Amino acid sequence: MSDKKIIIAIDGYSSSGKSTMARALAAKIGYRYIDSGAMYRAVTLYALNNNMIDAQGNIDTSALISVLPSISIDFRPMPDGTQHTLLNGEDVETEIRQLRVSDNVSPIAAIKEVRAALTAMQRSLGKDKGIVMDGRDIGTTVFPNAELKIFVNASAEMRARRRFLEMSDKGDNVNYEEVLANVVRRDHIDETRAESPLRRADDAIDLDNSYMTHEEQDAWLEQQVNKALHS
Ligand code: CDP
Repeated sequence: MSDKKIIIAIDGYSSSGKSTMARALAAKIGYRYIDSGAMYRAVTLYALNNNMIDAQGNIDTSALISVLPSISIDFRPMPDGTQHTLLNGEDVETEIRQLRVSDNVSPIAAIKEVRAALTAMQRSLGKDKGIVMDGRDIGTTVFPNAELKIFVNASAEMRARRRFLEMSDKGDNVNYEEVLANVVRRDHIDETRAESPLRRADDAIDLDNSYMTHEEQDAWLEQQVNKALHS
């Protein structure tokens, strides 16, 4: 492995396996991993728990914007190599993955001030490089100069099936149709919002992992990292 430290941005559609891939890559090359989606999820949980989102999904945007400076988000490394998201010091890893949060996160992530606050945190986490960050706008907005940018996609059905299995394995009582509807709806909101929409950076490398095994994907990724480290 080279001494050169780079920024690796992994963007793509919901449930495309970005996080698993980014986390494994970071562990392998000794980089820090940051799940930027977890940060949007944590802000969404905060808004839900503080009655800033009503039952119809309407957001009290000005109330949320006014409390943004007092929301702190951190990551706690766990003995099994994963990390848990902390919201104002409290471990919220389980709650932020639930459908209640998934159903509300994309409208929250479309708010300009929320994006500005989280983008600033993400840039400061990456200031020393040596980081793998996954999300929707990492290669386009957060780190437009990242040395390696990957854009991941797979069919919506394949992605929903993976997410459904992951949630069922955890004991969440969800049905496939509900998960598919969430994936499709989030993709649409993420792609069409005005602020930093989900878009492939012009210099990103595409990865469609619909029919790839984890091993094939890891081998492919290792090749891309080696190229980026030695260019
Ligand atoms: O479910 P999945 O792991 O694919 O999504 P996530 O990475 O946890 O992100 C949840 C949501 O946060 C996305 O659907 C986006 O609305 C938003 N997000 C964003 O706008 N920008 C990012 N850099 C990361 C996530």
